[in-house]
Amino acid sequence: MRKKVTVVGAGNVGASVALRLADKELADVVIIDILEGIPQGKALDTLQAGPVMRSDSQVTGTNDYKDTANSDLVVITAGFPRKPGMTRDDLLKKNYDVIKPTTEQVVKHSPNCILIIVTNPLDAMCQAALRMSGFPKHRVIGMAGILDSARFRTFIAQELKVSVENVQAFVMGGHGDTMVPLVRFSQVAGIPLTELLDAATIERIVQRTRDGGAEIVKYLKAGSAFYAPSAAVMEMVEAILKDKKKILPCAAYLEGEYGIQGLYVGVPVKLGENGIEQIIEVKLTADEQKALQKSAGAVKELVDVIKI
Ligand code: APR
Repeated sequence: MRKKVTVVGAGNVGASVALRLADKELADVVIIDILEGIPQGKALDTLQAGPVMRSDSQVTGTNDYKDTANSDLVVITAGFPRKPGMTRDDLLKKNYDVIKPTTEQVVKHSPNCILIIVTNPLDAMCQAALRMSGFPKHRVIGMAGILDSARFRTFIAQELKVSVENVQAFVMGGHGDTMVPLVRFSQVAGIPLTELLDAATIERIVQRTRDGGAEIVKYLKAGSAFYAPSAAVMEMVEAILKDKKKILPCAAYLEGEYGIQGLYVGVPVKLGENGIEQIIEVKLTADEQKALQKSAGAVKELVDVIKI
């Protein structure tokens, strides 16, 4: 039997996630939203791509959480995206009010699922979902690092005019302005990035990565990115459902790792059928550790505001 994945939120990110999962025939997909008709319409449209995409995934849309029952995995994208001039942090209170009831409903109907959170501000929303769900920490995971790393990889590949497939890069920290793109762990076909690009070029790419989401918001005006975010979610879902034991940067609840206590922060983790199966700790330089602590501090400020 195919696995069941629920996507909460039938907006830009949610609908794109559903499409990517169905295209790859990774699971049967249920899309749920508070808006009537939108999840039903988008689900039917996605389903009708099946014959062409050679996918038998069943895709349904609903406004009733009963239809999400016994999902193996639930992706929460419900909430407001940012508009030009807003930071992800500006969404804090509005999206906390969305995450609370949605997590409650999800957990009631799928008590054994793995939760992937996408709603921003990402790290704080993960923390809210962890508290609301009462789930163990390995079953509440945030999508951010894969997206931020993909942006970093894209810009490196563009600069060097090489295949994106050659580029490995890592971004740690919170999903915000203080994220930490790690140049030392970035390589092109195994060659350290620092051998191929000068420091000023690397710094320019790092800054563009940090501003990657805002650059798109500025163009779109009415919302934020969704194609690359949905691709990142798809990679996480695939790693979990296929038990790939893949090492990917994700937001994870840290309890002492990297010297951070009781906070969601982006770190390399191993994803498999149980969710986060291991947090990979690498030794950071003093500067990298300082940048990570600063980023964790920014997450803590948000978490303190909503007292979770
Ligand atoms: N329950 C279910 N769905 C909800 C709820 C709720 N309580 N509240 C809002 N939604 C739905 C909206 O009806 C809308 O269809 O969430 C959807 C959000 O879609 P968009 O406005 O298109 O936003 P999107 O671009 O998908 O971003 C969603 O993901 O990347 C993050 O920052 C982004 O927080 C934002 C989230």
